[in-house]
Amino acid sequence: MADTLNDTLRAQLDVYVTETFVNEDDVLRSIQAEAALNELPAISIRGFEGRLLQMLVHISGAKQIVEIGTLAGYSAVWLARALPATGKLYTLEKSAKHAAVARGNFERAGLESRVEVIEGDAQTSLAKLSARNPFDMVFIDADRPHYQDYLNWAAENLRPGGLVAAHNAFRSGRVLTPENEDDRFVQEFNAALAKDTRFEAFVIAVGDGLAVAVRK
Ligand SMILES: C[S@@+](CC[C@H](N)C(=O)[O-])C[C@H]1O[C@@H](n2cnc3c(N)ncnc32)[C@H](O)[C@@H]1O
Repeated sequence: MADTLNDTLRAQLDVYVTETFVNEDDVLRSIQAEAALNELPAISIRGFEGRLLQMLVHISGAKQIVEIGTLAGYSAVWLARALPATGKLYTLEKSAKHAAVARGNFERAGLESRVEVIEGDAQTSLAKLSARNPFDMVFIDADRPHYQDYLNWAAENLRPGGLVAAHNAFRSGRVLTPENEDDRFVQEFNAALAKDTRFEAFVIAVGDGLAVAVRK
């Protein structure tokens, strides 16, 4: 019963925060519609998580961002809109279909000059992107088994003070008692991040949990 009450209150607060602080415009709504139309999985971040990412861009003054996991480009549009006009978001996507849908969405959003989709496996793309370091922020939202590899790449390629944000830190609550491999990977990732001497780390309990870390 207590859980049900907490869940209801949490859902009500999510709606309150969304209505008060989150301006999801027609472009963002159309990205979700386009994703559904193209039968992409409904696994993007939520609007208020997008607004949180934007706040992290503003707070950190990020100008060069790497995103791992594009899908239809929903989170990328939130991130890119917070960048200065000269800023750049590199977003990494292994699915050619997802990348194509996302490119169309970035054009519709008028962000094609600020966002570059890099198609292929993230590990390969990251190895190439190292040539363009240092970066200011890395958003990890794909491929849970390799979160630790992505964190290691971030440690090597972020400027001091640069930021890592890793989505799904809570795994819908299952991080407490993992039920599958991905839950276990995220549980291990959070524990390792908390002890990682290269970063100052914490988890922001918004949405499905955003693990955040600042490069020392
Ligand atoms: C959770 S979705 C990303 C959602 C997106 N960040 C958003 O909130 O709008 C994960 C995406 O990462 C892609 N992906 C999964 N494994 C990958 C890998 N190893 N390299 C690159 N992309 C990958 C999937 O195809 C999927 O489109």
